[in-house]
Amino acid sequence: MKNLLLTGGCGFIGANFIRYLLEESDFKGRIINVDKLTYAGNSENLAYIESQFSDRYIFEKKDICDFKGMEEIFSKYLIDTVCHFAAESHVDRSIVAPDAFIQTNIIGTFNLLELARANMDQLILFHHISTDEVFGSLGNRGFFTEKTSYKPNSPYSASKAASDHIVRAYNKTYDMPTTISNCSNNYGPYQFPEKMIPLMILNAIEGKDLPVYGDGRNIRDWLFVKDHCKAVWKIMKSGSRGETYNIGGNCEMKNIDLVEQICDLLDETTEKLPNRSRKELITFVKDRPGHDRRYAVDFSKTKNNLGWSPEESFKSGMKKTIQWYISNRKWADRVKSGEYRFWIKKQYR
Ligand code: NAD
Ligand code: DAU
Repeated sequence: MKNLLLTGGCGFIGANFIRYLLEESDFKGRIINVDKLTYAGNSENLAYIESQFSDRYIFEKKDICDFKGMEEIFSKYLIDTVCHFAAESHVDRSIVAPDAFIQTNIIGTFNLLELARANMDQLILFHHISTDEVFGSLGNRGFFTEKTSYKPNSPYSASKAASDHIVRAYNKTYDMPTTISNCSNNYGPYQFPEKMIPLMILNAIEGKDLPVYGDGRNIRDWLFVKDHCKAVWKIMKSGSRGETYNIGGNCEMKNIDLVEQICDLLDETTEKLPNRSRKELITFVKDRPGHDRRYAVDFSKTKNNLGWSPEESFKSGMKKTIQWYISNRKWADRVKSGEYRFWIKKQYR
């Protein structure tokens, strides 16, 4: 893998993955990071990488929906490997404004696949980053496996499901070397503060309301982002072409319990709020339409075949994450001061 096209590298997981590849992994090639810099993308996330790895890291501001623009990238950099993170990623936004999800997640992925197909003689791998949300919602028991049928419930998960199917079809029809990973909820540094964990941390620090949807008993499986990055790299190196791999945290939690833990950790480690505990900030609000009840991921295939398991415990990962948001309050203010401000007014609740 000499010339790796990585899409969406200025977002949360992409930025963590680039850091991991260049600073800690045995990857030896160069990374061409293509990102449109939507409200969720910040090139500042990689300023340090840009200066430290100027010979192995290139940034190109481009939209993956722009076929011609992406064609230039493939030929200019002799792309031999693709790792595709770029997406519209927030379920709430997909409910209010699905259009961008269909464009980027489906058409954008299709463009990349077509360009990879045109460059098939040099293509080593097309790795597609996907989500456990494509499988829909679980009852009280059971886990998503790689064989679970797809039942997406939000425009976001439907667009990711569509892209997974197109990637699969390119492997079956054109024999393209592909892998897909379906991962559970990530948390950690650089996550945009519209998502549950950073939103709750920042609001709790500032003494603002903590809006919990519905009855707060929806369950998510949480994984520290660096563990996700390690899994993706293992799949890229050793995963069987044409296969999909589940990635999970073995860490199911009800939303309300998660928010209470964040409150307790903040009360323990930072200045207390005057005269009240942070838990008193919890406010139950109108539920998300079509809100999936429970996610839980069986990742035994990835564990048994590739030797990957999550390393970070929830408590240690959450402490690191809280510390990062406390130390990077200015980052959070800056990323929220752009296009994101116009979104707040559009929310469904
Ligand atoms: P994010 O929203 O933080 O980042 C997405 C990045 O993609 C941003 O930098 C954005 O500018 C870029 N982008 C968006 N549209 C683009 C376009 N048309 N052209 C080029 N760049 C574009 O997302 P994230 O949380 O880092 O998620 C990354 C990937 O991982 C997504 O594919 C998502 O579906 C998947 N995923 C996320 C999670 C999670 O918990 N966050 C879990 C499983 C899978
Ligand atoms: O499961 C993987 C998915 O996890 C990824 O594919 C998505 O890109 C990622 O955004 C995430 O989706 P969720 O919808 O699960 O994440 P979010 O952080 O938006 O919400 C987590 C849970 O918390 C969910 O049950 C909704 C709830 N929630 C969320 C917000 C933002 C609240 O109760 N209050 C909130 O303010």
